Amino acid sequence: MRDPAEDVVALAAELAARHVPGTRAPRVLDVGAGEGRHVVALGDAGLDVVALDREVASARAIVEVAPGTEFALHDFAHPLPYAPESFAAVVLWSVLPHADPALLPALLPDCGRVLAHGGVFLVNFIDPRDGRRDPDTHARRADLPRGPDHFHARADVDPHLWWGQIADARLMRAPVGGRPDLDPVAEWRLRVVKH
Ligand SMILES: C[S@@+](CC[C@H](N)C(=O)[O-])C[C@H]1O[C@@H](n2cnc3c(N)ncnc32)[C@H](O)[C@@H]1O
Repeated sequence: MRDPAEDVVALAAELAARHVPGTRAPRVLDVGAGEGRHVVALGDAGLDVVALDREVASARAIVEVAPGTEFALHDFAHPLPYAPESFAAVVLWSVLPHADPALLPALLPDCGRVLAHGGVFLVNFIDPRDGRRDPDTHARRADLPRGPDHFHARADVDPHLWWGQIADARLMRAPVGGRPDLDPVAEWRLRVVKH
């Protein structure tokens, strides 16, 4: 299992530090939880983690790495199966690079819907200026072994975050492994605080 993203680890520490002992642990939703690296990091910080993914393989992996975690086998092409304001934080990490842009107008506001006021939404995605994108086909370069399938510009994402304030937005640049001829990776990392 890969290491958790530093943004998610920092969020876990922040929520844990704010948690008053003896009260209910902050509830955090991991959308597209995959193998559970963030479920583990958030759970290890003492948070009440809920995982969601459409793949049975994810459910199996999470049972292994974080037994007892609440898990929803769910496709986020449909509304998230939670009441409004259910979570202190929602994490959507390494998921939009695999999500059809057509899903964003419903999915991003739905993440806001299930988030409590003042809650934090963490999301990352790959900018179209990324070197792994073929400028002609607008798709991931077929000659590279791994990488994102979908690229999203800020102008395609930000309007669907109307329900919160973008408190932090960082563009991470890194060389494409083994391909100095390509433009660098261009990954956006956003932190949104719900109004
Ligand atoms: C690259 S993995 C990232 C896993 C995890 N968030 C992480 O950072 O390690 C993307 C995950 O999103 C899930 N996913 C993609 N599309 C989905 C959808 N429409 N509904 C639910 N899960 C989806 C995939 O099944 C996969 O587990």
